[in-house]
Amino acid sequence: MTRPEGTPPAATGPTREPATGAASGAASARPRPAAPAGLAELERRAAARRGRPEYGHDALISCDRLVRVFSTDGVEVQALQGLDLLVAEGELMALVGASGSGKSTLMNILAGQDVPTAGAAKVAGRDLLTMDAKARLGYRRDVVGFVWQQTTRNLLPYLTALQNVTLPMQLRGGRRRAERTKAAGELLSMLSLDHCRDRRPHQLSGGEQQRTAIAVALANTPSVLLADEPTGELDSHTAEQVFGAFRTANAELGTTIVIVTHDQAVADEVRRAVAIRDGRTSSEVLRRTERDSATGQESLVAREYAMLDRAGRLQLPAEYTRSLGMAHRVLLELESDHIGVWPDHTADGAARTRGEGGGDGVSGGGSGGGSGGGDARGDSDGGGAGPVGGAGPVSGAGPVSGAAGEPGAG
Ligand SMILES: Nc1ncnc2c1ncn2[C@@H]1O[C@H](COP(=O)(O)OP(=O)(O)O)[C@@H](O)[C@H]1O
Ligand SMILES: [Mg+2]
Repeated sequence: MTRPEGTPPAATGPTREPATGAASGAASARPRPAAPAGLAELERRAAARRGRPEYGHDALISCDRLVRVFSTDGVEVQALQGLDLLVAEGELMALVGASGSGKSTLMNILAGQDVPTAGAAKVAGRDLLTMDAKARLGYRRDVVGFVWQQTTRNLLPYLTALQNVTLPMQLRGGRRRAERTKAAGELLSMLSLDHCRDRRPHQLSGGEQQRTAIAVALANTPSVLLADEPTGELDSHTAEQVFGAFRTANAELGTTIVIVTHDQAVADEVRRAVAIRDGRTSSEVLRRTERDSATGQESLVAREYAMLDRAGRLQLPAEYTRSLGMAHRVLLELESDHIGVWPDHTADGAARTRGEGGGDGVSGGGSGGGSGGGDARGDSDGGGAGPVGGAGPVSGAGPVSGAAGEPGAG
């Protein structure tokens, strides 16, 4: 059986060889299965596996195939569907994603307020699935701090800002009153809130309330500060000030901070923004400063990566698969420095795609190929890579490419 659409379009690479046949399809791209291994070889492999560090062993937060299913009135909602996430100690990172994608579900689990259905979650060495009630209480008091979106939910209305900050210290015990007052005053100072010390929440602006909430969350010097859309109710200028307070906490105290946000401006400020889609982490944008070797000028470069899970699964952005009419099956080709992903042009593959996708842009083997991702390389694109799209996780420089065309490839 031969592929109806013959070779991949020339635009995708000058020297590329087509896959040998549709029937061998994706399998043809994989290395051949090894010959049956001898006992010695099996033992060697098992020993190598034993010596390998556990997934996320050096991360402060590690979520491994996390699942959370809600059942209400016999209806099941899979809010988290095998989510993987690692956060290093000292990171300040953002979680972004559409409404309903599972962000708050994840935050509630990390906050110790909810227990996952399956998978594994560890924060600062604590196992969030097996903690008993007492350990959970201690975890919430000592290990994590939390800032909610609703400003009113974070502070007690009848206490001053200073009293709000000393309260968690008092509940934990162990420090004298004078020490507590001093520590709380220092936290407020650090976040430029000296003038708010003796005011009650209703005498504070929305931004001041959220910054005070950050001071409250930091009262017992937690390892991790979690914030679920903390700037969601604020205008952009105020949101920026609140984000500045998170940055200060991260820089001054070394607190690891995870912020859920809808606010692209906030997501653009962090070094790493992870996108959640359908209860899984789907892509992440990394920002770093690069120096131009010619001019010596530094610029911030953003690049988007797709997440590859430990089973090798990868989510292709919908706009990419749609533009090439990819559905159900794709062809993979292993190249020396990347993997190519091709639409399935076999007769039944194309028919299936047409049936589901409305027939648009499906059969055009000649027009597909590299053009869909052709402009998405993002090599020199400094700024606007959004969490999904923009520079694109599946780009020329990225791990998976249908558009590379590098002279060296193949
Ligand atoms: N307590 C709950 N009971 C039932 N369904 C829930 C509950 N909490 C969240 N969900 C559902 O789980 C999905 C993810 O919700 P959520 O984590 O709040 O998303 P996000 O914060 O990203 O908007 C949604 O479909 C939501 O309706
Ligand atoms: Mg939410």
